[in-house]
Amino acid sequence: MSIYKSLCEIGERIIANKDFLTELDREIGDADHGVNMARGFQAVLEKITPDEKDIGAVLKKAGMTLLSKVGGASGPLYGTAYMEAGKILAGKEDLTPEDLKAALEAAIAGIQKRGKAVRGEKTMLDALIPAYETYCENINSGMINALDLACKSAHEGLEYTKTIIATKGRASYLGERSIGHQDPGAASMTLTLEAILDALKQEN
Ligand SMILES: Nc1ncnc2c1ncn2[C@@H]1O[C@H](COP(=O)(O)OP(=O)(O)OP(=O)(O)O)[C@@H](O)[C@H]1O
Ligand SMILES: [Mg+2]
Repeated sequence: MSIYKSLCEIGERIIANKDFLTELDREIGDADHGVNMARGFQAVLEKITPDEKDIGAVLKKAGMTLLSKVGGASGPLYGTAYMEAGKILAGKEDLTPEDLKAALEAAIAGIQKRGKAVRGEKTMLDALIPAYETYCENINSGMINALDLACKSAHEGLEYTKTIIATKGRASYLGERSIGHQDPGAASMTLTLEAILDALKQEN
């Protein structure tokens, strides 16, 4: 798997969906999620090069860049997720299905350590945790197939965030009024997973 290609795909998708993510955040937050994430990934795209092969090192660099450029609540959370995934994948130039599982697990643990959220609080975790579980359940069917199904679960998780009250982050100030809206972080997380899937499909 080319980490360069995956990050380019993620960055392009986040940037293309900047207005969509910002609109979601306008409904239940402060209308900056798309702007924050697009700024962060613009910086990531400027820093990475196709010749860097160590997946862990590239992810660490991406994480540090996101940490310093995204800001808000999501910057440290995404930054930590990428850095923790990078630690697990240090020195690897290719990924087995098990490596991807370990990276997703490390990303979730990093987000939870930093943000103290659990599933069902209307955050990015409501897309990522179901996706991870589906990936694990289907890991024996191959990386692309498992990730394809995982993306569907992420999407279902994103839809589910419409039905629940936010209890973390800025959206929690709205209480019941946060119902009926998708969580912006769950949306950017779904885009992220779909981008990785697309990058993988393009390579195979
Ligand atoms: N504790 C948390 N754990 C996991 N995800 C969280 C947490 N708090 C917020 N989020 C995610 O971050 C997203 C909001 O990101 P955004 O970039 O808009 O930051 P923000 O909340 O506006 O930050 P700030 O309040 O500092 O301006 C939410 O949609 C949610 O998915
Ligand atoms: Mg915001």
